[in-house]
Order: sequence, then C-alpha cells, then structure tokens
Amino acid sequence: MKAGRASGRRRSAVMRAIAVLRVEGLASFWFKLLGELGFRRLLVQERLLAQPMPDVSPGLPVRIELLKDSALDEYFAFRPEAAHNDISNRLQSGSLCFVARHEGRVVSTCWTTRSRARTEYLGSEIAMAVGDVYLFDAFTAVAYRGNNVAHALCMTQLRYFQQAGYRRAIRATLPENRSALRAHAKSGFQTTRVIGRLKIGPWQRAFERPWQGKLR
Ligand SMILES: CC(C)(COP(=O)(O)OP(=O)(O)OC[C@H]1O[C@@H](n2cnc3c(N)ncnc32)[C@H](O)[C@@H]1OP(=O)(O)O)[C@@H](O)C(=O)NCCC(=O)NCCS
Repeated sequence: MKAGRASGRRRSAVMRAIAVLRVEGLASFWFKLLGELGFRRLLVQERLLAQPMPDVSPGLPVRIELLKDSALDEYFAFRPEAAHNDISNRLQSGSLCFVARHEGRVVSTCWTTRSRARTEYLGSEIAMAVGDVYLFDAFTAVAYRGNNVAHALCMTQLRYFQQAGYRRAIRATLPENRSALRAHAKSGFQTTRVIGRLKIGPWQRAFERPWQGKLR
C-alpha cells in the first residue's frame, strides 16, 4: 500500500515537471524536476533598511495598506488556494500582510514576519537576527503583473519597517523565479547565500553556502 502511494507521488511529481517543461522551458524543467524528487534550493536575499528608499510610481494607481481582519474574505477571494488555517495562524503569530488595491480591488499582496521565518518549500527555518524582518508570499494578480505593483508594495513594506526601527529585510526566492528576482532586485535586494536540502526517502541533509554569482 505504502509503496503504491510512493510510486503515485513520484508519478504525479513527474507529471507536474512535464507541465513545467511545456510552459516554462528546459531550464526551469530540470530544477523543478529535481525539486520534486528531493533536491531543493532557495536564494536568500537581503536589503539593509538604512539604504535609500526611492519613490516608485506603479503603472496604475494603487492604494497600499495593511490587511484588516474585516477584509479577510477579500484576501481569500484573491488567493483561493490559501488555507484558511495557515492565514489565521499567520495573523495570530503577528505576521502582517500588505495589500495593494486598484480601484478598490486587491491586486497584489505580500506578507512579513518579525519572529520566525519558515520556508515550507524546504521544510525549515531561515535564520533571522534581531532587527530583521522577513518578507514572503508576494503575489500579484496575473492581469496586473509587470506594472511595478509588487515593487511599490515592497517599498512600502521596507519604509514601514525602517520607521519601526528594523535594520534589514530578508526574503527567499526560487532561483528559477525570474519575475520575482527582478521585482526584488528593483527594490534593492541582493542575493547573499543559497540554502537548500537534499532529501531521499527519510534521509535528508540541509546545506547553505555564500552566493558566488551563480548556482553550482
Ligand atoms: C513575483 C511577482 C509578485 C511580481 O509581481 P509584479 O507586480 O508583476 O512585479 P513588478 O511589476 O514589480 O516586476 C516584476 C518583473 O516581472 C516581469 N514581468 C513583467 N511582466 C510580467 C508578466 N505579465 N508576468 C510575469 N512577469 C512579468 C518583469 O521582469 C518585471 O520587471 P520589469 O518590469 O522591470 O522588467 C508576480 O510575478 C507573481 O505574483 N508571481 C507569482 C507568485 C510568485 O512567484 N511570488 C514570488 C515569491 S518569492
């Protein structure tokens, strides 16, 4: 029974990887396949909050604010795949969600935590020092991408935490996620290290190394 489930999981991993090959091309395909099979890594990016915070004009008018409890239904309509429990846990643990609205509608969101930075993708925590804030789960509605909305939202987050006395912002991004890397780079993030894990069945090993300009 267990063996049947495991082979089912492997088959569906391969099916997902083939879907990636069709849509995103060979480079993404290879790493998504490795990721599905157990080899995963993320680029850790950092941005000091003392650095200048240039104003950003998004390509469409947006209002950026913190997500209120009263707007949770709107959040779930915007991210229907989000698990209600996860979002409640985030809010209860003090995570803040920043929301960009265009003509009143939520078009982009991004979360922050000041305590524990956890990546479900690696199943591990990302080390944070006092004065760090971790930005995660950025998302812009497909129809609004490429308008600097995530960039403008991020700059609002950075200013908010700079004014609150924080020192550094951190995020972790898949190396194949070019749009996210570009958005984060525009907001001043620089890659500092690569973290990852190799997992084969019950055995796994985490790794971390300084970023040297390319993946090895
Ligand atoms: C990553 C993401 C949040 C960026 O949002 P955005 O509002 O489009 O961000 P920006 O407009 O500031 O810039 C993103 C970059 O994406 C690329 N891009 C432009 N149009 C795009 C489109 N229609 N679709 C995807 N990417 C696009 C461009 O490189 C752009 O930078 P440029 O305009 O300076 O060339 C968005 O692509 C997204 O929601 N992706 C899916 C979720 C995800 O990957 N989140 C990141 C987790 S780390």
